[in-house]
Amino acid sequence: MTNWSPNSWRSKPISQVPAYPDQAALAEVEARMATYPPLVFAGEARKLKKQLAAVADGDGFLMQGGDCAESFAEHGADNIRDFFRVFLQMAVVLTFAGSQPVVKVGRIAGQFAKPRSSDVEKKGDVVLPSYRGDIINGIEFDEASRIPDPARQEMAYRQSAATLNLLRAFAQGGFANLENVHKWMLGFISDSPQGERYQALADRISETMDFMRAVGINAESHPSLRETDFYTSHEALLLGYEEALTRIDSTSGDWYSTSGHMIWIGDRTRQPDHAHVEYCRGIKNPLGLKCGPSMTPDGLIELIDLLNPQNEAGRLTLIARFGADKVGEHLPKLIRAVEKEGRKVVWSCDPMHGNTITAAGYKTRPFDRILKEVQTFFDVHRAEGTHPGGMHIEMTGKNVTECTGGARAIRDEELQDRYHTHCDPRLNADQSLELAFLVAELLKKDRAAHTMKEAVGA
Ligand code: TRP
Ligand code: MN
Repeated sequence: MTNWSPNSWRSKPISQVPAYPDQAALAEVEARMATYPPLVFAGEARKLKKQLAAVADGDGFLMQGGDCAESFAEHGADNIRDFFRVFLQMAVVLTFAGSQPVVKVGRIAGQFAKPRSSDVEKKGDVVLPSYRGDIINGIEFDEASRIPDPARQEMAYRQSAATLNLLRAFAQGGFANLENVHKWMLGFISDSPQGERYQALADRISETMDFMRAVGINAESHPSLRETDFYTSHEALLLGYEEALTRIDSTSGDWYSTSGHMIWIGDRTRQPDHAHVEYCRGIKNPLGLKCGPSMTPDGLIELIDLLNPQNEAGRLTLIARFGADKVGEHLPKLIRAVEKEGRKVVWSCDPMHGNTITAAGYKTRPFDRILKEVQTFFDVHRAEGTHPGGMHIEMTGKNVTECTGGARAIRDEELQDRYHTHCDPRLNADQSLELAFLVAELLKKDRAAHTMKEAVGA
């Protein structure tokens, strides 16, 4: 790798940097964090890469989701549990219907920094620096809160460690046992259409488990029935924080980000000669790259050359976020360029970020637009003969009212009831499960089309 080091990004142009008033204090925090234990291990990142490599080859589906922005205020165990429970429900729905492995990656335990379209926020006559996420400044609209404070980075690190600790316990310690499929029901879902649908599916899984137990396969003898691999991810936006947690893996001698298993580059910070691409190209973790309407086929290939020069399957996930009306126009061009050049990638669909509107004074996303983008994503891949490899969503386990529509038909006027997000509107638990059922249908069809093609030798 030519001239790369964990801090080589510092000599490149950079956007979305907070204006820390006290640079010495910032440097002190970064130096201290560089001595802290890693949050994740290189071996885990490699395992994830292997699972994503299978997806890139057409086998499996990546499910990535969580808060738009994690916050210090919402760090309760109940929050984490509720999120993980819905995530497992979705995963089980997708695994069962698609009959293929689901790679589970949370936007969690590190998803704190937010890119902003404007450096300032105005309210009436008052102009203050924009909120950039709890790892940088405070959301309250007053001058003191909006000053970037480096101490917040250590807070975010410690919160990530505690969150990850609980998630590891849930994933490996029994909570994720398939014998618990019925227990993952949430109170407010159980009386909804999604709840009934889920119960029916859980019954079938329980029946299958009973059958397998009768023939000698059970959760005691087969850990894969009682455990799951759950990985963490976030946008690698605050590069000083990322640099401090970049470590050499002693077994391979390679550099890894240890702030999360997978990190991604946002649509606003993917300039090939800028700092964010520079940082990401040098670490060995699986990477995500957000692709919005301004991404050209040539620009994409240039970025792939930089980020995955060895054409290693599982290294790069392209996260398409065009909007329901634009995905049909933009995605085919990118897919054709990637296919023509023979690049191995995972194609994932982010149906959230291109479908944000304002209604009743709130930033929101209509559920039918989200569904439409996912549907079109699958249609395009069917037409191009490529694998619709995953989805990337903003969701919560709570019964919030942030996105409109869904089976419970949240109306514009109801957004004010439980609008809690620190940044973008998230799907609530009910809407998340509804989306999973829809995607499960699409996966099933995709699978059937695939099997058919193989049968006729195409
Ligand atoms: N280990 C398998 C997997 O992760 C099966 C499994 C166990 C599972 N618990 C799960 C699947 C919870 C989905 C949800 O795929
Ligand atoms: Mn967001």
